[in-house]
This record gives sequence, structure tokens and C-alpha cells, in this order.
Amino acid sequence: MSLNISDLVNEDASLISRRCWSDEGVYALEKRGIFGKSWLFLGHESQIRAPGDFVQAYMCETPIIVSRGQDGGIYANINSCTHRGLPVCRADHGNTKRFVCPYHNWSYSVEGNLMTIPQESEVVRKPDKTQLGLKRVPRVESWRGMIFGSFDEAIIPLDEYLGDMRFYLDAFFDRFPAGIEFMGAPHRWVINANWKLPVENQLGDVNHGAFLHSAIIPIEAQQLIEKLGHSVVTTPGHGATFRLMPENTPVDDVAWGMEAVGSIFGGDEVQNYLREIQTQAHERVGDLRSRMKGLTYGIYPNLSFLWSNTSFKVSHPRGPGKVEYWSWAVVPADAPDNIKKILRTNYSSFFGPAGILEQEDSEVWAQQFLGSNIDFADDRPYYYGLGLGEEKPHPDMPGLVSVTANEFYARHFFTRWKKELQAAEGPL
Ligand code: FES
Ligand SMILES: [Fe+2]
Repeated sequence: MSLNISDLVNEDASLISRRCWSDEGVYALEKRGIFGKSWLFLGHESQIRAPGDFVQAYMCETPIIVSRGQDGGIYANINSCTHRGLPVCRADHGNTKRFVCPYHNWSYSVEGNLMTIPQESEVVRKPDKTQLGLKRVPRVESWRGMIFGSFDEAIIPLDEYLGDMRFYLDAFFDRFPAGIEFMGAPHRWVINANWKLPVENQLGDVNHGAFLHSAIIPIEAQQLIEKLGHSVVTTPGHGATFRLMPENTPVDDVAWGMEAVGSIFGGDEVQNYLREIQTQAHERVGDLRSRMKGLTYGIYPNLSFLWSNTSFKVSHPRGPGKVEYWSWAVVPADAPDNIKKILRTNYSSFFGPAGILEQEDSEVWAQQFLGSNIDFADDRPYYYGLGLGEEKPHPDMPGLVSVTANEFYARHFFTRWKKELQAAEGPL
């Protein structure tokens, strides 16, 4: 069946065709028009502190090695030998002087330059090694230690791309005097779902909390989210949801981490640490942002941040119906080790492949994909119209702001998505 992108998302994005999540042609356009054109998250500088350190990453389906060069710079190269295509690095992370291909032993520096070809001593005409390095990701930039790469040489600077999302991200990052660090390797697992399903959920869907997660989220907590919750779109596709706690809220009710860690794992030591961070928050991020108690954030196209359980996640597509999900625990860089461990245990109890909330969400995403692939249902697009047109600028906060029930975060995402796919249309 031929595909016309303009038919998939209506003008105000209140009706969206099921084929957006299930069509092979849509997926091919996404690879070119979105993943070939966006800033994509690669990792955090805390993972590659020393020269020679490296971690694996993906940009959509393309395997990437992110490394700290001998010159201290950050490099991102496609993990594929220029001789016959094998991955030259198989370890998830580590430190090395060379990446050595297992097939014919060509070796590459940590910066990705081709260093040795064992067979070249036996031939007369030597290959020009300077032209045979790993394919470098043309743009790599960091913000607050978060490393991003883009295949689009002409893309706008990362700072500008993140735009006003920095205001909301800093509400978290700037609470900690030494910033944050990614703790350990990511959880990685495969879900039979389209990559946009986790993304949309974590861009702003806090409306399912007490229903899907009824075993763990009491209705009172959900009511508080409805009462104090704000949903923000800074740039279409980027969004933040949080509770804005009233002035003079007791520190225990506003402090990050307290509701989960404090009640389940933490003793006095952890609770006092979290209280101390909150006590300094006013000075560090200002009154308004010190009262933000974050829920979920999204950065276009496929990076999510769960402030409430402190994890960054990337939804790596593996076709229209499969996603490889990566999820890191994030902790304050200067927290004592025992507190870091408790924070990480808190994260993995709720999120990651065995986390109770993540299992429920993953099950939903897989079922949503099946629902998007049902025959004879093309005349029943999904309804995305809740709160249509009700989002507005706010006097004190950047972006468009509304109640959390307003699905505008998803409508803006799909409006951008549609525009980028239309720009990529043409012969594949
Ligand atoms: S495929 Fe890598 S050295 Fe031949
Ligand atoms: Fe959820």
C-alpha cells in the first residue's frame, strides 16, 4: 500500500493513524529524516574519564564507540571495520590503546584512526591508512556532561537544540554541587514495541500512574499529581512534567528521592542527605525551581529522563516492532558511596528490566504495538485530542504549559515528527 505521511497525522495532531507505529515504510523514513538529522544521546562524560576509556552506544541501529582520546577529546566512531565490516570493539566498556578487529587484525587507535594492517608488509602498493579510519560521527557535543552525536554535519549546536529544556534539566542537575554521574553500565533489554511508545510515555504521560501502576501508586498520589502537576513543552518533541509544590511545603514533601528512597530503603543517613540537598536547592536553582518535584522528561527524539526514579533511558529502534531499551541509574557525583548504592537500588526496584513499574509499562508498550498492527482498523486512528489548544505560555516558566491531562506534549511531538518525515520523503 502506498504511503502518504500527510494522511497519518491530521492537522492539529488530534488523530493519528495506527500505521505510524507499525509501517515499514514509515520506519525507513524515520531512519533518514529523524535519526539521520537529530542530536542523539551517546553517553555521559562520567563513563569515559581517562584517555583510552570507551563505552558502546547506538545511533538508531548504527553501533557507535564513544571514547576519550589520548588528547582528552571525545570521539564517536561507527563500530565497523573498514576492511570487511566487523565490529572492532566487542566489550561494552573499558579502557584500551587499540581496537583490534578479530577477523584480519587491523587495528585502530581510540580516536578511530587506522594504525596497522598486518598484511601490508607483503604487498608492494601500500594502502593509504589515513583514509581508512573508522567512520567518524561528524558532530559530537556535550552539555552538562551529556554527550550527543549527530550524523547531520549542518545541525544546529546542541545548546540551541536543547533550548529551554535546559531550564528544566538544570532544575535537577544544578541541585548537586558536583553534578551527576551515570552509575555503572546500562540495563539493556528488548521490547516488542515501536520505539516511539516508551518515548511518548516518558515525555509526559503521567496520567496512567494510579491505573496501570495501581499496586504501587496510591490514588492520593495521583490526585496530587493532578492538582500540582504541570506539563511543559519547550520545543516540539521536548517536554517536562513535574509537580510544583506550594511555597512553605515541608522539606520532606518536596525533596527529590524522599518519597521512594526515604520510605523504602533509606535510614536517617539517606534521608538527611536528601534533606540537605533540598535545603540548598533554593540557593542553587532559585525559589521556583527548588519547588519543582520532577516526574518525567523527554528530549527529542528518543532520550527520556525519569526524575522521580533518577534514570536516563534511550529507546533504540530495531525495526518498527522492536526496541532495544537502555537505562542508566543516575546519582549525584559527590554522594557518599553507600548512598549512591541505595539510590541505585531504588532505581532498579522500580525501573530497569526487573523494576515493577518498568515491567508494567513494557507490557503496555508491547500490547500497544499489537493494537497498532491490527487489520481492518485503519479508519480508527488514535485520539490524541485531550486538552486540545489549552496549553499556554506561563509568566515564570519557558515553553507552553498546561495540566498533565492535556496530551499536547504528544501532539507537538507528532507535529514535528510529521514535518521531518515529509522533508525526508522521496525515493529511499
Ligand atoms: S574485517 Fe576487520 S580486519 Fe578484516
Ligand atoms: Fe508507567
